[in-house]
Amino acid sequence: MNMKEPERLFLITLLFCWVDETAAVTVHSDPAGDGGVVQIELEATVSFTCLAPSGGGELQWFRNKALVDLKEGNREERSHLCVWPVTREDNGAIFRCQLKNDASVNSSVQLEVLYAPQLNGTEQVSVKEESEAELSCDSRANPPVTVVWRFEGRMLDLSSGGYIATNNGVTARLTIPKVIRANHQGLYTCVLDSDIYGQRMKSFQLSVDDKTMKFPLEAIIAGLVVVLCTAALAVVSRWKRIVKCCK
Ligand SMILES: *[C@@H]1O[C@H](CO)[C@@H](O)[C@H](O)[C@H]1NC(C)=O
Ligand SMILES: *[C@@H]1O[C@H](CO)[C@@H](O)[C@H](O)[C@H]1NC(C)=O
Repeated sequence: MNMKEPERLFLITLLFCWVDETAAVTVHSDPAGDGGVVQIELEATVSFTCLAPSGGGELQWFRNKALVDLKEGNREERSHLCVWPVTREDNGAIFRCQLKNDASVNSSVQLEVLYAPQLNGTEQVSVKEESEAELSCDSRANPPVTVVWRFEGRMLDLSSGGYIATNNGVTARLTIPKVIRANHQGLYTCVLDSDIYGQRMKSFQLSVDDKTMKFPLEAIIAGLVVVLCTAALAVVSRWKRIVKCCK
């Protein structure tokens, strides 16, 4: 096709007008997003504004697949949505605005919620000698954290001493398959290291109990012996009386 310059420009203008007529809804956010993703701190507030294309139309909001209930007066041409406070469950959530009568005219943003690990304090844990011990820390955080374990203030050497450490991004676990008091009793700490939030930790005071309760067992045996002897004596003394009476 061979076109003269004015014709070409006219066609381009026409094309832009047509694109504008059917243009998608636009979504702005506060704080502003980057590449369709809005980064926000836990418990902060984020607000979205959706604008209908020229010509207006009724707007709808969805949070992931769920339709958001909008008040009247917040649906025509311009619609505001506010998320407060932002929770951990909002991480990854997609907020989409669309024309009610044409879902293909839509625009969306995704939330990325930044949060520190939520843990602290010291827990008392007691286990029986030679049984399994399991210590666990909530390791959820965004961005994800690295986890190390300490024992009595020193970095735990996982290659020796029968420990298994795992972390799936939700729970960090330290398992001691067979607890030996001499080796394993003491203070354990899980240390979570975050690029933005620094270190967070939680401790466990692990105490190891005897495998079998020797003392109560002996006491029970001693008690049984006393009962049996008393019964035997009673029979013997009664027997003597019975024999006497028969004479
Ligand atoms: C949003 O718009 C795009 C582009 O028109 C379309 O492919 C997509 O299916 C729409 N989303 C929904 C949920 O309708
Ligand atoms: C410790 O963590 C718990 C659970 O996240 C929280 O409720 C509590 O306020 C925290 N305590 C301190 C002293 O940070």
